[in-house]
Amino acid sequence: MVQKIRTAVFPVAGLGTRFLPATKANPKEMLPVVDKPLIQYAAEEAIAAGITELVFVTSSSKRAIEDHFDRNFELESTLQARGKDDLLMEVRNILPKGVSCVYIRQPEALGLGHAVLCAKNVVGNHPFAVILADDLIDDNQEGCLSQMTALYDEHQCSLLGVERIDPNDTEKYGVVKTIAGDAPFGKVEEIVEKPSPDVAPSNLAVVGRYILSPRIFEILENTGKGAGGEIQLTDAIAELLTEEDVLAYEFEGKRYDCGSKLGYLTATVEYALKHPSLKDSFLEYLSTYCLPAKR
Ligand code: G1P
Repeated sequence: MVQKIRTAVFPVAGLGTRFLPATKANPKEMLPVVDKPLIQYAAEEAIAAGITELVFVTSSSKRAIEDHFDRNFELESTLQARGKDDLLMEVRNILPKGVSCVYIRQPEALGLGHAVLCAKNVVGNHPFAVILADDLIDDNQEGCLSQMTALYDEHQCSLLGVERIDPNDTEKYGVVKTIAGDAPFGKVEEIVEKPSPDVAPSNLAVVGRYILSPRIFEILENTGKGAGGEIQLTDAIAELLTEEDVLAYEFEGKRYDCGSKLGYLTATVEYALKHPSLKDSFLEYLSTYCLPAKR
């Protein structure tokens, strides 16, 4: 039977240590790029790909995420009373009708693999997507997850969103080796979490987009600690690909590593330069500010 991807898991329990102190009391996924938090971009990408169930694997310090996707009656009635209809529509329609949210607590930060395993009972025996919100992928064209669900419809197997990285950066990513297929995707024959550049099998890195077969849950139940002492999703995928096909897909679109300060700032500048009501004045500001004499 042909299966469709309807559920996306958002692991959002991480501590955000690369962004302290900003993330001491605020979830890193709530950092705004221009005027929307990272988690909203991720949810919008999922919804555009036909996802109707958003599963957030969260922790005690992440309540702001639940609040963001919930109604805020006090704010709404104030906006209504002040006649701010555009803003009212915006805060009311963060999630379209027919999309539901489930929140699961990850009791301990035991790693990405453990976070995904926490979603097992909600996802059930269906293929599902995983989105890491700090990898922001632009939506100039078809969103990354839409590209991947289309590929899933055709191939009905697990898929990893990948991109070429600087070979010196392999220690930051899961890295794959593929059997050359019909570009832009190839069958994964090896995957390693955060290898050092001298042993990395390639410079093709997994970014935060996955479509996974539910078999991954059974594997994760028996996956021990890996790189960094954490239960790694990458290690479970390494086992999955001994049993089932896993494809690596070089998506179209630009990715911003918003878990790093430089990536976050780059995204902020580039999204501001695309924002309908900001782009002209921001460009004017940047062009004068960047003239050496003005600094
Ligand atoms: C996680 C994954 C890694 C992947 C990366 C993408 O690492 O473990 O395999 O390449 O996300 O952003 P993290 O960035 O959480 O250390």
